[in-house]
Amino acid sequence: MSVDVLLGLQWGDEGKGKVVDYLSTNYDIIARFQGGPNAGHTLVINGKKTVLHTIPSGIFNENVTNVIGNGVVIDPITLSKEIAKLKVEGLSLTNLVVSEKAHLILPTHRLLDAASEKSKGKEKIGSTLKGIGPTYMDKTGRNGFRVGDLLQEDAKDKYEKLKAKHLALLSMYPEVEFDLAQEEEKWWKSAEELKQLHITDCVYYINQEIKAGKRVLAEGAQGSMLDIDFGTYPFVTSSNTVTAGVCTGLGIAPKHIGKVIGISKAYCTRVGGGPFPSELFDEDGELLRKEGHEFGATTGRPRRCGWIDIPQLKYTIMVNGVDEIVLTKMDVLDVFEKVGIVASYEINGEATTQLPYEYKDGMPVNVKMMEGWKESVNSCRAVYELPTPAKQFVNTLQQQLGVNIKMISVGPGREEIFQA
Ligand code: GDP
Ligand code: IMO
Ligand code: MG
Repeated sequence: MSVDVLLGLQWGDEGKGKVVDYLSTNYDIIARFQGGPNAGHTLVINGKKTVLHTIPSGIFNENVTNVIGNGVVIDPITLSKEIAKLKVEGLSLTNLVVSEKAHLILPTHRLLDAASEKSKGKEKIGSTLKGIGPTYMDKTGRNGFRVGDLLQEDAKDKYEKLKAKHLALLSMYPEVEFDLAQEEEKWWKSAEELKQLHITDCVYYINQEIKAGKRVLAEGAQGSMLDIDFGTYPFVTSSNTVTAGVCTGLGIAPKHIGKVIGISKAYCTRVGGGPFPSELFDEDGELLRKEGHEFGATTGRPRRCGWIDIPQLKYTIMVNGVDEIVLTKMDVLDVFEKVGIVASYEINGEATTQLPYEYKDGMPVNVKMMEGWKESVNSCRAVYELPTPAKQFVNTLQQQLGVNIKMISVGPGREEIFQA
């Protein structure tokens, strides 16, 4: 009777969507517990690519119920676009359940996000501008508008009241281009579609299912280094992306948390502003971006690239209580003569694996360079099939992290992964 958790150990985009889709046959329920349409989870099934933003990545498995939990923030406009695309692909979406307690992103939340970022100038976070920060602010400020509010008679009044507050706030910020009237029209049309979905009290639902012995997997969005409490604040998102967020984002008691699966790329990326000590500014960084197609699934922005970072991963393994690791995008390193691992940081002349309070760019790092394998690992389906230098790379990571690497992903496709 436990809930497994799968989440990103870096700054997002570790390949969560792909791995959740792959693992979904082992589960009855896949549940998103935080974040919103700032997420972009890519699935490649039979060569066809789908990017999910709000809908859990188990949706292609019709035997799995997909839950959008109370901790998620939903933009009805994005959600209806996502649903429309999936329907074109022949999905029924009858296996989708939405929490009545999830908060809604209003058009003015997006407008506030854009205005707030503009006001920060060079200090901007690099937000996806999906309205995430302002929506969570209204949630904790106790002003939010929830899915359940849409079903009430006074929904319009409540919406207008919140909008009026936003418009007053906007007077503090620089102006941004935004067709509010048009966005509001789309929003209300999409909200009507949202009302037709299976909206329920997901807290009771999921706990009853756990009691009935159903297997649940909680799907994280973003990454642990973007967590509001444990990430590189203030360059973070506005939710708890770590294991603890599963409890508050779904209404699951800590004692029900089972296995925690952490995902890491074989290197590291970050999109948006904020510190990234292992970032590469040379041709290796360029090559990682090119080979890994490192452009944002939500915004299309180029992702910053660097070597895999041991202190950073040890920290997120600790905070999340990671039991096993999935290493993704191993194939991206195929072309490298040498591959790097950041073994420690250099602080005040001393090597350390502890993240300092002043975690910043330009912090000296100690990089261990290892021999590359210079051949394709894409068709490997077992560790023994990996070239020797690739096995050494995996062994070194495992040894330094102290956690088993249980799965290795060698391509974007659903089947391009194996148990290690
Ligand atoms: P998520 O946000 O964690 O779900 O990850 P994204 O979908 O934003 O980014 C991961 C990208 O890498 C997507 O384009 C995936 O299709 C792709 N991908 C996932 N796993 C692998 C892998 O093992 N190898 C390669 N080459 N691409 C992968
Ligand atoms: P998935 O689930 C990578 C980053 C943004 C920005 C910061 C704050 O696909 O891994 P926000 O829109 O939340 O105000 O942005 O967080 N960010 C992500 N980076 N993957 C994501 O999601 C992200 N969601 C937000 O780039 O730096
Ligand atoms: Mg992503």
